[in-house]
Amino acid sequence: MTNEQKYKYMLILLEGQLSSEKNDLANLSNAAAIVKAVMDRINWAGFYIIRENTLVLGMFQGLPACNRVELGKGVCGAAVTEKKLKRIENVHDFIGHIACDSATNSEIVIPIIKDDVIYGVLDIDSPYIGRFTELEEEYLVKFVDKLNKYIDWSKV
Ligand code: SME
Repeated sequence: MTNEQKYKYMLILLEGQLSSEKNDLANLSNAAAIVKAVMDRINWAGFYIIRENTLVLGMFQGLPACNRVELGKGVCGAAVTEKKLKRIENVHDFIGHIACDSATNSEIVIPIIKDDVIYGVLDIDSPYIGRFTELEEEYLVKFVDKLNKYIDWSKV
């Protein structure tokens, strides 16, 4: 299987999950598990959701992680305040990167924006420098678009 085939399969798995279950907690738990299971060479995949003006750890797969990330801080916080996807080739070159796991070397953070409101991020980490390319970016944006069709982020 090519990476592109894997990522198409990842979207099919997500659609299957979201169309068969209404509960947002179950859906987001399995969404994190689908990314972690399908994407190789990653060590963490999960959500940070904005609550009381800070990012709070949501459903994830991987080692225990930072509970809170302040808006504007770290890669996740920057993605929120700039409302911009962050694809970081080498996290050690990103000033302010928050190292939840010292094994992480690259990271991609997709902002979750629905009807112009930002609700949080999908964050994925890898121990490999330059792990995330335009291909991963393309499919992870589609992944979040699909989540947006089903998840009521304000109630998660
Ligand atoms: N590295 C992130 C913090 C979250 S952990 O990677 C799970 C950051 O700099 O925002």
